Amino acid sequence: MTRRDFINKTSAGYAGLQAWGLLPAAPAAAFSLPANGFAGDGKGRRVVILGAGLAGLATAYELDKLGYDCTILEARNRSGGRVWTIRGGTSETEIGGTPQTSQFDPGNYFNAGAARIPHHHQLTLQYCRELGIPLEIFNGNNEAAYLYNHQSASGLTASAGTSGGVASPSAGPLANRRMRIREYHNDMRGYTTELLAKALDQGQLDQDLTKEDVEKLVDFLKNEGDLNTAHLYKGTNRRGYKTQPGAGPTPGEAVDPYGLTDLLRSGFMQPVFYNVGDYIYEQQTTLMQPVGGMDAIPKAFEARLPGKIQFNARVTELRKTENGVRMVYQKGDKPAEIQAEFCVCTLPLPVLKNIESDISGTVKRAADFVPYIKTGKIGLQFKRRFWEEDDGIYGGISRTNMDINQIWYPSFGFMKPKGVLIGYYNFYGRAEAVGALPIAERQQLALTQGKQIHPQYATEFENAFSLAWHRIPHSEGGWATYDDATRRKYYPALLEPDGPVYFAGEHTTYLTAWMAGALTSARRTVEAIHKRVG
Ligand code: ALA
Repeated sequence: MTRRDFINKTSAGYAGLQAWGLLPAAPAAAFSLPANGFAGDGKGRRVVILGAGLAGLATAYELDKLGYDCTILEARNRSGGRVWTIRGGTSETEIGGTPQTSQFDPGNYFNAGAARIPHHHQLTLQYCRELGIPLEIFNGNNEAAYLYNHQSASGLTASAGTSGGVASPSAGPLANRRMRIREYHNDMRGYTTELLAKALDQGQLDQDLTKEDVEKLVDFLKNEGDLNTAHLYKGTNRRGYKTQPGAGPTPGEAVDPYGLTDLLRSGFMQPVFYNVGDYIYEQQTTLMQPVGGMDAIPKAFEARLPGKIQFNARVTELRKTENGVRMVYQKGDKPAEIQAEFCVCTLPLPVLKNIESDISGTVKRAADFVPYIKTGKIGLQFKRRFWEEDDGIYGGISRTNMDINQIWYPSFGFMKPKGVLIGYYNFYGRAEAVGALPIAERQQLALTQGKQIHPQYATEFENAFSLAWHRIPHSEGGWATYDDATRRKYYPALLEPDGPVYFAGEHTTYLTAWMAGALTSARRTVEAIHKRVG
């Protein structure tokens, strides 16, 4: 039996194959700096790291392995930065806001910031492996979740605050009703493949295809759209059933598809409904999350850096000296100072820009002009997991053009009596409008709009915790959002050390908005420092 036969015949699992020596081990060594020619000795050189988010933690962790003497200054009383899990007892007061404490029951939580790990973010996954963090599936794509296009009588999309509504195209009979994502996807696939198949059947495509090519392409379209033998779309059981197949004498009753023109007028072609989950590299299956909350990652780093993080230490001044750097900070309410040979500054740019410093003008301009996204989330605790019990939704995301934008169903704790779902995840104008509301009004908005999709909200709601990242102290934004111009103008300055000061964090990468950005920037910085002293 060949190795290939063996694998094919047994469907042996990855771990099994590895154990039998049929696969190389996971590429842990590829990520280990000491294993990659970085075996030198940091000789106790002092490095101060600003921020105990993922970039700062990973920098300290790797520098520590190489023998450097690291201290992290962290303004908050916790590590993790924008990797933050909200549980019962979590408290926060936004800038200009009122204090809020989560009342979630034990075992219920949501990830306020980072919330999913793509399967190709190998460095993030490798750290989870190395730090012993158990992972589970994060279900991003769920064809059972809903789309809901809201149209008010005036033809305006409902909007929070004073923004007064966003004009959107008239929506026909499919407005103001929820539709399963699978219905929309399969109908659109059916109709578009039918049209293309017709064009091919009639030789109307201006393509240099042989007869055999056309046959193969039509076969593909037939399967893709579930067309009938005449290459027509007449509906498909892929979009679900009116009555499910079961033990009785009938095969299950299919539902008629929606009409093509109704779908085209449904509003679902707006960007807010795009099927990003299927198509975008970062959101393709499989996604993962740590069991028990994303903060397992910063906590695991923190456990390996005993005594190296100073909490409640807010940096106010960053100065270059003859031999390195000097940082002034508030330790609780007392001023303090620390000196080092190098500084690794991982502060988000909206925070960095408010610090007194003599860093270069180019970095200061980056801090002033690289925009950060406004984004918000709310966790809603319900007495009952009605989305599972009544709707068969286990994880995944519903989308709407209302201010709430996305509803995320938890990918853990299935069948438990209670649950917390993310009642909104919104961006830009929607996040700004909702984030400007008092806490109680955000909750009201999430419930009123969410009830359009899930009427059960009215009777099952218990409590909520909301946040607007652009108003969260020490973050002041979701993530850096470069366009071509800002990337060209400001980004390069963040890649170079400014004398003894290095910059790290998602904003110093092309992986903005991902933990992988923070982690990869940390590795880059550690390598640069170590090469410099080596
Ligand atoms: N990476 C962030 C997310 O998954 C932006 O939503």
